[in-house]
Amino acid sequence: MSLQGKARLGVLGSGKGSNFVAIAEACRRGLLDAEVAVVLSDVPEAGILERAAERGIPARYLEPGRFRTRLDEEAEQRYVAALQEAGVDWVVLAGFMRILKGTFLRAFPLQVVNIHPSLLPSFPGLEAWKQALDYGVKVTGVTVHLVDQGIDTGPIVLQEPVRVHEDDTPASLHARIQEVEHRIYPEALQLLVHGRIRVEGRRTRRVD
Ligand code: GAR
Repeated sequence: MSLQGKARLGVLGSGKGSNFVAIAEACRRGLLDAEVAVVLSDVPEAGILERAAERGIPARYLEPGRFRTRLDEEAEQRYVAALQEAGVDWVVLAGFMRILKGTFLRAFPLQVVNIHPSLLPSFPGLEAWKQALDYGVKVTGVTVHLVDQGIDTGPIVLQEPVRVHEDDTPASLHARIQEVEHRIYPEALQLLVHGRIRVEGRRTRRVD
């Protein structure tokens, strides 16, 4: 925590950064007692880096290393060093499209949070809204969870359903999912930074 008692967040993203914007806005409006200390991306031209720079938040591209779907060992060390230098209390994945493994997760035990565009454990992995449409489910949703060694498997903090419409396209469904994401990600982070989520094995419990 910083001197003002605000949690320091390190946000990682690979895409346009709409969840980052929702989180930064919630901080600015006093709805989330935190500040974004740094934004890191594995994609040099990612919109999230521009959105952060516009807000005067330190933001940079960090090389992800030689793999396509995860950070390699040295890259994990680079990311951890940058986050520790920025003094972050929580690592917030906001559309970060790479798997994090041992070195990274050991540095931030139960302090890495992710948002996923489905009701896990349904449709882990990529383009979960498209998987939901292709499967034909009538309800999908959004999950905020803590990150463990698996892919989209960690303890669930919050979930909210989103109805699938008969005329939905991947874009229209993802847009409605994102509206929910932008609301519940700051809510989940507010609970976490205030220590109001207790983790008991796979399950989490809200404490007052
Ligand atoms: C969000 O819909 C997020 O749930 C998803 O990427 C999008 C990022 O959008 N994440 C995953 O699919 C992770 N497996 P944004 O860049 O506008 O925040």
